Amino acid sequence: MVKTVIRNYQPSDYQAVKSILIEAGLFSPRSDTKQRLDRKITHQPDSILVADINKQIIGCIYLIKDHWVSLLFRFAISKKFRQQSHGSKLLKKAETLLKKQGFKTVILFVENDDKVLVSFYKKRGYRLGGINRCLIKPLEKN
Ligand SMILES: CC(C)(COP(=O)(O)OP(=O)(O)OC[C@H]1O[C@@H](n2cnc3c(N)ncnc32)[C@H](O)[C@@H]1OP(=O)(O)O)[C@@H](O)C(=O)NCCC(=O)NCCS
Repeated sequence: MVKTVIRNYQPSDYQAVKSILIEAGLFSPRSDTKQRLDRKITHQPDSILVADINKQIIGCIYLIKDHWVSLLFRFAISKKFRQQSHGSKLLKKAETLLKKQGFKTVILFVENDDKVLVSFYKKRGYRLGGINRCLIKPLEKN
């Protein structure tokens, strides 16, 4: 029987999560190294969730929470499992976890005002925030 389990990411999930992120165009070789994900879950075990069907990872989402703000990143479902409500369930699970931990709002970013994604999120209770550009500085240059 097919059973979807949403659970905390484990270090052994790395290759599966990496493949899903690459396929979704969300993988960053700098930010999504195995070491950085291991550090993230050592600090907060529930800060990366995966959707698992019969021990196959089919989706992931990262939670960033520091008691001042909560954000969601790297939300993706493997292509062949899309449009089957797995994404909605994973997103809901992340939101429920944040709510239980006392957060009142959650923020996420959509690249280039992607209309399909904006509509996906609006249907799920999100509203547009301000249009801000994200700026990045490599700190090793400091
Ligand atoms: C966004 C995503 C996680 C949704 O996962 P999913 O399992 O297909 O989601 P569900 O089955 O629960 O819902 C399907 C919804 O996805 C929407 N959708 C989002 N992006 C889509 C796309 N690029 N193509 C087609 N449908 C898309 C559909 O419109 C549908 O919305 P509706 O139910 O409101 O009509 C998945 O499309 C994905 O991995 N996209 C690539 C990565 C990405 O863009 N992540 C978000 C970064 S902010």
